[in-house]
Amino acid sequence: MSDLHLGLAGVGRIGAMHASHLTRTPGVGRLTLADADPDRAREVAEALGADWAPDAEALLARGVDGLLVATGTAQHPALVAAGVRAGVPVLCEKPVAPDVASSLPVLELVEAAGGVVRIGHQRRHDAGYREARRAHAAGELGRLHSVRATTCDAAPPPLAFLAASGGLFRDCSVHDFDALRWVTGREVVEVYARGSAEVAPQIADVGDVDTALAVCTLDDGTLAVVTASRCNGAGHDVRLELQGSLGTLVVGLDERSALRSAEPGTAFPAGPAHTTFAERFADAYRAEVAAFADLVRGAGGAAEDLCTLADAVAAARVADAAQESLRTGAPVRVAAPERAPAGAR
Ligand SMILES: NC(=O)c1ccc[n+]([C@@H]2O[C@H](COP(=O)([O-])OP(=O)(O)OC[C@H]3O[C@@H](n4cnc5c(N)ncnc54)[C@H](O)[C@@H]3O)[C@@H](O)[C@H]2O)c1
Repeated sequence: MSDLHLGLAGVGRIGAMHASHLTRTPGVGRLTLADADPDRAREVAEALGADWAPDAEALLARGVDGLLVATGTAQHPALVAAGVRAGVPVLCEKPVAPDVASSLPVLELVEAAGGVVRIGHQRRHDAGYREARRAHAAGELGRLHSVRATTCDAAPPPLAFLAASGGLFRDCSVHDFDALRWVTGREVVEVYARGSAEVAPQIADVGDVDTALAVCTLDDGTLAVVTASRCNGAGHDVRLELQGSLGTLVVGLDERSALRSAEPGTAFPAGPAHTTFAERFADAYRAEVAAFADLVRGAGGAAEDLCTLADAVAAARVADAAQESLRTGAPVRVAAPERAPAGAR
């Protein structure tokens, strides 16, 4: 299968970006787009020289080799199921579904059908996160004592998106919960969360917070703090800091980090600051869709890095616990992660 025909459902903020990357992904010969708004699908397709279909069902009927899903979260389960029923591998944007309860039927369906489904956690394809995972596994940092993960957006997405997002931990920090598990190789067993909506009080009107913090305890006793903000004036700031008995490693600390030093005479970072997730992780998103093309082709290598459905549900369990702790004000134990189901690859 040298020239793949891939389909992509949902060409909003991130779907249009994936479509653009896919037109330059080696081995992808044809791309067909669909959106709930067919005019939008046509516009994006015409701008990129891709094909379009009036809806996802019509797209699958064109006989695509693989399906990417980048619709809003609420539509993920139905479209993943449609892709699996059509017998093609699926790469679905995170999260699997709005919460764990609505993710489990997806897991069961994929297991029963022997489907091939991966979830878009692009940090797994980012050079910095990959180096952190390697260095930790090689023992270069010694015994980890503290981990800090942060994801701060420069500006919030539309309120309508936030209202359907499931909350800051499920929508945003789920990336950092996945990265915590993937980089350290440990499970999060307890979460204690706080949040506020003092910078963008309108976010409280849709039941969410603009800033949140979760203290996480890993199953080997390591402590981690995960923070997030929708309103970070300095720019798009995504970092992971690992501190251990032998060394410290920081992901996302470069000349474009969205911060400045308080130390006199220190010019680092020189800037300009990162602005959006699309720009900060452009290389990682390209690598992610290329890995999916490898998966569809049946090649190993980078395809092994894609986040499995079981891993994505495990990260969602941490996000659910964080949302629950935010609601109750009490620490919450994380339910045991799903074991990789036998039939779900
Ligand atoms: N990995 C990341 O860094 C990252 C970043 C942003 C968003 N996301 C995820 O990507 C998803 C989309 O987010 P977004 O910000 O692009 O949302 P968006 O609202 O901008 O775009 C969603 C698009 O899906 C379309 N759509 C809805 N139902 C559909 C259906 N049944 N068939 C076809 N198209 C349909 C909508 O018309 C819209 O154009 C969300 O699940 C979000 O969590 C991931």
